[in-house]
Amino acid sequence: MEGRLQVFSGNANLALAKDIAACLNMNLGRATVSTFKNGETRIKIEENVRGSDVFIVQPTCTPVNNNLMELLILIDAVRRASAARITAVIPYYGYAKQEKKTTGREPISAKLVANLIRTAGAHRVLTMDLHAPAIEGFFDIPVDHLQAGQLLSEYVRGLNLKDPVVISPDAGGVGRANAFRERIGASLAIIAKQRPRPDAVEMLEMVGDVAGRPAVIVDDMISTGGTLVEAAKSLRQRGATHVYACATHGIFAGDGISALRDSQMVETIVTDTIPQAPESVDARIRTISVAPLFAEAILRIHKDLSLSALFS
Ligand code: R5P
Repeated sequence: MEGRLQVFSGNANLALAKDIAACLNMNLGRATVSTFKNGETRIKIEENVRGSDVFIVQPTCTPVNNNLMELLILIDAVRRASAARITAVIPYYGYAKQEKKTTGREPISAKLVANLIRTAGAHRVLTMDLHAPAIEGFFDIPVDHLQAGQLLSEYVRGLNLKDPVVISPDAGGVGRANAFRERIGASLAIIAKQRPRPDAVEMLEMVGDVAGRPAVIVDDMISTGGTLVEAAKSLRQRGATHVYACATHGIFAGDGISALRDSQMVETIVTDTIPQAPESVDARIRTISVAPLFAEAILRIHKDLSLSALFS
């Protein structure tokens, strides 16, 4: 790619965007991202982007709709300012759990959001651990889909757990948990859960043995924390000595943090795809930065180099 590399950010996760820029030895591009008195999002790009290779960092986390609008309007602004190529860098892709209909008369919001991003003018998307990998196919533009498994498993390996078991807290996460298990040299157990109503969780059954062994639950996201709290309870009842949890996206919706604080979890490890409170607030929640990985991916995209090495 010929043009200059420039990185801009909305307000969703400024700390991560700055860290990514720092890893690239550059400053964030200057932009005003604020709100008009009437509540509408106000964007002004404060430097020249003509002919540039622009990356806009904006996870669509809470406040989801505001952050999404900032992303769309930032893309529109740099497109109209004649950027040569625009990559939407979306470390956490919101609305991903609405990727299919579960009953009649429901939307497929994850697809709608993909359409909006494309229509706004993005040429590419760089994201991480989509709730459902098939969402990649909702875009008719290239999507580079990073995974945090390598970073999270390195941390867990460093804990030197004796004979650990990796747990998938639902059937949909078995592939992810199995990849994690291979990385840390553990065995696998699977929990079957059901949701009697939205945001409520019930553990049904478990396949695998955890008695007398430490358990590591691996998930893509922690939303209300209900899945982890129930899984930890069930694992302890089945004899697990300690329970740890790893998830790429720490949303901690509602009382999620206090639910985990009151749970039987020894430590919960998340990344900074979504802004996290400092560890001083709760030492049992550890945050691992994905900034170096995103910076490397951005550099490779800019230089038209392969990203395969980052996926393994
Ligand atoms: C579900 O399919 C996901 O992988 C997570 O298990 C889920 O989103 C966690 O939600 P919560 O923390 O609200 O139980």
